[in-house]
Amino acid sequence: MAKQKAIIDQALIDKLFPHWLEIRRDLHRHPELAFEEVETARKIMAELDRLQIPYEYQGKGGGVIGRITGKASAHVPIIALRADMDALPGTETSGLPFASEFPGKMHACGHDAHVTMVLGAAALLQENPPPGQVLLVFQPAEESGGGARVIIKSGVLEGVRAIFGGHVTHHYRVGEIMVAEGVITAQSDSFTIHIHGRGGHGARPHEAIDAVVIAGFLITAVQTLVSRETDPLHPSVITIGQVEAGSAPNVIAESAVLRGSLRTTLPQVRRHLHRGLRRMVKALAELHGAEIDLQIREGYPPVINSPAETDIARRAAVEVVGEKGVMAMEYPSMGSEDFAFYLQKLPGCYVRFGARKQEEEYIPLHSPAFDINEGVLKVGAAYFAAVAWEALKRYEGG
Ligand code: NI
Repeated sequence: MAKQKAIIDQALIDKLFPHWLEIRRDLHRHPELAFEEVETARKIMAELDRLQIPYEYQGKGGGVIGRITGKASAHVPIIALRADMDALPGTETSGLPFASEFPGKMHACGHDAHVTMVLGAAALLQENPPPGQVLLVFQPAEESGGGARVIIKSGVLEGVRAIFGGHVTHHYRVGEIMVAEGVITAQSDSFTIHIHGRGGHGARPHEAIDAVVIAGFLITAVQTLVSRETDPLHPSVITIGQVEAGSAPNVIAESAVLRGSLRTTLPQVRRHLHRGLRRMVKALAELHGAEIDLQIREGYPPVINSPAETDIARRAAVEVVGEKGVMAMEYPSMGSEDFAFYLQKLPGCYVRFGARKQEEEYIPLHSPAFDINEGVLKVGAAYFAAVAWEALKRYEGG
């Protein structure tokens, strides 16, 4: 077994921290949307060059894969650390001196922090080589499109024993890491409902089939699938986030489009909600003499942390933030995360990093004002280095 000096070298972390701040703020200032992360990838590669870590770049729409060979012999275990690179559409209102310079794009989900953490961990692991290989997976397009699938398809994860990832959140404070086994995030599906009525004059409703009225009934009706048909102990959400209809106040709309999102944590609840949506759409069409189409698109599966890797993650978290800083999850998040695709292929663990100080305002992810307390960068970098060490020590034995 390789001898381990302290993984968490606080003095080294403090020394590297100003550089990590530069990286994070530069990424934050220059956000790129899903599958467009070319400059972000270039900056990651520049840092890997600086750290003398070999990598491969899969090109626009792909990832950057760094490889720390560590104390490599012929048959050492390999683990992967994953960071997502993409930003979100939206206009930043944080007022930060390093706020987005690109109108309509911003790092509202903290992926700038995730990239910085994994680069930080890479620097720590270079200083303190682990007993095995570490793949640094910088993936595109977590937010839309499932960049994880691009990475999986590329084959770089062949032979990898486990994968570890995490996300910043204001639900916890800086110095807290949430580690939990099992279901962590919800299954997400999206749906589109097209209502085809008959247009007409606003003063002559009897000559028309009003798509707006049908849309109104439907928006209310589908809420009862959760509130009246689903066990309250089984978390689920239906949100209709987009409604399009009509051209003028005095014209009865011929058609309407509703777009929404479904979140569930249990397969049977998911099946029921899918069936329920179809049932209600059919019934409303009949009720109003309209035609209504429903399309349901399968989204990200749930993130399910494997038991052994959750144990590894917990040990790593304890090393970084102590027993008191390791939080258990009370309920799964109804958010979704394409890390789930990795966990369908190999074991692993996905954690959350507290990114807010007590006195700081709570701001949800995806808010135009989202920001992190940058102290979380130290926690995240130390955690990723520690989890790589913990995992490789564990797997080295067999
Ligand atoms: Ni995110």
